Amino acid sequence: MEVQVCMRHYLWGILISLHWNLVFSQADSRDLLLTLKEKNALDTFKEQVSPLLEEEFMKSDFYLVRWLRVKNWDIPSAKTMLLDNVKWRKDNKINSILQENWSDVEQDFPASFHNSDKIGRPILTMNFGEWDFRAVVLAGKSRRLDRYLTYTTEKYVNNVFKAQAAGKNVTRALILIDMDGFSIQRTACPLCIPIFIRWTSTMESYYPQFTNEIVMINAPSAISIPLNAIKPFMTPDTRDQLKAFDTNKQQWMKYLDARVDRSQRTQRYGGTKSL
Ligand SMILES: *[C@@H]1O[C@H](CO)[C@@H](O)[C@H](O)[C@H]1NC(C)=O
Ligand SMILES: *[C@@H]1O[C@H](CO)[C@@H](O)[C@H](O)[C@H]1NC(C)=O
Repeated sequence: MEVQVCMRHYLWGILISLHWNLVFSQADSRDLLLTLKEKNALDTFKEQVSPLLEEEFMKSDFYLVRWLRVKNWDIPSAKTMLLDNVKWRKDNKINSILQENWSDVEQDFPASFHNSDKIGRPILTMNFGEWDFRAVVLAGKSRRLDRYLTYTTEKYVNNVFKAQAAGKNVTRALILIDMDGFSIQRTACPLCIPIFIRWTSTMESYYPQFTNEIVMINAPSAISIPLNAIKPFMTPDTRDQLKAFDTNKQQWMKYLDARVDRSQRTQRYGGTKSL
């Protein structure tokens, strides 16, 4: 008994919160709590990688800690992964992707970045069911769509940074997807699926631990075809984040109402926000 009390006391003693605001009941706050051992690993990691990072935002604890977490606190692996990311960003000019002209794609593949959930997490909203992936493939524009999907990811991750800077207690974003209109031919054609796989790989390799949940509504059972194809490319964490609801509106309304205020959702997501 005494030992247990001591142990518990000891554990509390070594929990360190980085210099961020915390709401302890929220899942995101777990991202922000470190044990002493973890804090030491972060400091070592930071010292090793900081001179190699050109983009300023990468030097924050808030950013760096993810690479360690995803690699189970193994510093050399985290370093390799982070430096791969640095190279990829440079090779693909990701640091200016937000300034590129996306008007040609945005029309047919609208994504919204303007909303946030109840604790201030940015929401990326996409009506995937309406996106004609097959047309893109047939037009030979898969790579353009790949880059656009990277752009949407960069943008919502950027919004996480903005939320942090604004003093909100968030480390991750929410992805909200309406699958209404889904068809195997249009959405999940054999040449469409590689687009999803590449996007998943991009998110896992270059934007680890920036997503809190991926909530799909109006998902038909055929969704399992593309989902099963991309799941092997997801970390177990990401797989756990997937929540697919069918057309039973009562069910997804209850779920969304608990997380996202109706003022932050358009009508198709059961909200009151005008487009
Ligand atoms: C963006 O590209 C479209 C064509 O796709 C063009 O009409 C438009 O003028 C461009 N906008 C800017 C700001 O360059
Ligand atoms: C963040 O958490 C702190 C500490 O719990 C709290 O005082 C603050 O109001 C929270 N900020 C937001 C924007 O929720």
